Amino acid sequence: MAKKITDHVTWVGKVDWELKSFHGNELSTHRGSSYNSYLVRGSEKTVLIDTVWQPFDLEFVTRLKQEIDLNEIDAVIMNHNEVDHSGALPELMREIPNTPIYCTKKGEAIIRGHYHPENWNFVNVKTGNTLSLGDTTLTFVEAPMLHWPDTMFTYFSGDGGILFSNDGFGQHYATESLYNDCVDTAELYYEAEKYYANILAPFSAMAVKKINEILAMNLPLTLICPSHGVIWKENPAQIVTQYLTWAQNYQINQVTIVYDTMWNSTRKMAEAIADGIRSERPEFTVKLMNAAKDDKNDITTEVFHSKAVLIGSPTINNGYSYAIAGILEMLCGMKLKQKKAAAFGSYGWSGDAPKLMTEHLAKGGFEIVNEGYRSLWVPDSDELERARQYGCEFAKAL
Ligand code: FEO
Repeated sequence: MAKKITDHVTWVGKVDWELKSFHGNELSTHRGSSYNSYLVRGSEKTVLIDTVWQPFDLEFVTRLKQEIDLNEIDAVIMNHNEVDHSGALPELMREIPNTPIYCTKKGEAIIRGHYHPENWNFVNVKTGNTLSLGDTTLTFVEAPMLHWPDTMFTYFSGDGGILFSNDGFGQHYATESLYNDCVDTAELYYEAEKYYANILAPFSAMAVKKINEILAMNLPLTLICPSHGVIWKENPAQIVTQYLTWAQNYQINQVTIVYDTMWNSTRKMAEAIADGIRSERPEFTVKLMNAAKDDKNDITTEVFHSKAVLIGSPTINNGYSYAIAGILEMLCGMKLKQKKAAAFGSYGWSGDAPKLMTEHLAKGGFEIVNEGYRSLWVPDSDELERARQYGCEFAKAL
C-alpha cells in the first residue's frame, strides 16, 4: 500500500518480510528487507524513483496504478540498476514505453545488459544535472562504486530537502513503520552496520570522499530515503556521521575468534586463548564464533568492528576447513585496514593450517601479529595453559 511521506513524496515500494538471503546466498537477511520506490509529484512533473525486485513486478505496477495513472509519470529515475531496484522496470515500461529513464551512462549500460530493451528512452545524467518538477527540482549526484559503477544519488529540493540515496544508508530490515524513530534502534543499527560491512566496506575510501563532497554542498536535509529499510527522519545526519565513522577503519575494543573444529581440540584452544586475552585486557570484548555454525555475515559484521581477529582451524588434508576457507575469502574481500590477526589450530601430523591461514590473512591486508600457534592432538591442561599464554601475548600486541 502506498504511504504518503511528505507533501510531494509517496512511498510506493514493497516490504519483503520473507527474504532470508540476498545476492543468492551471499548475504543473510534475518529481518527481511524492503525495496523502496518513491513517487515525487511536483507542480508540473511527476517522477518515479527506482522500482522493486522482479518477483514483485506485477504487484508493484498494479499497486502503482492504484496510486497514479501511469501516464502521469513524466520520468523514471534509476539511481542504481541492480535487479532488486530495476527488476520491475520491464513490467513498468510495457505500460509506459516512451517515458524517459534518467540514469547514469553506466546505468543505461547495466539496464541494457540485463533487460536488452530495444526502444526505451534513456536520458544520461551526470553530477550537477537537474530536472525541474515545476515548484521543485531534482539534482543528480554520481556516486560510482557505492556500490556499483552506475550508482547515483538524487537530491530533491522540496519539503525541506530529501536525499534519495538508494543502497547508501540502507538496511535489510523489513518494517511497516517506515521511519527510523519508529523501530528498535539496536536492531536498526545492527542491520545498518551489517549492510555497510558486507556491501559497502570495500568502497570505504570512496564513501568518505562522496559524503564529504555532499556535505560541502551544504544542502538542507530533512529526510534520507534509501532503497532498503527505514527512512531516516529523526536526525537524518546521524547515519551520515555513522557512515563516516564506519568508513574510516572503524574498530572497538573487541577481538573476534573465528574457528572451526572437528573433535573439539581447536575449540578448546579457542576458549583458552579467549581466556588469556580477557585476563590480559579485561576492557576488551572477546567473541567466539564457529564458522561452520554461525552465520557468515554476522561473523563478518563482528570482525568489521573488531580490533583484531584470530582464525582457528584444524589441519585437514594439508589445508584448513571448508568453513574457514569461506570466511577467510569473505573477510579478505572486505579490504579492511588496521586489523590485527593471527591463526591457530590443532593437528595430528602435517599441521599446515595455521601457516596457510596466516598467508591468506596477510594477502587480505590483515596485520599479522605472530606466526601462529598449533597444538598436537588433544590439548591437555599444560597445553591449554600454553594456549592461554598465547592469548595473553596476542592481547599485549593490541
Ligand atoms: Fe539494493 Fe545494489 O542493490
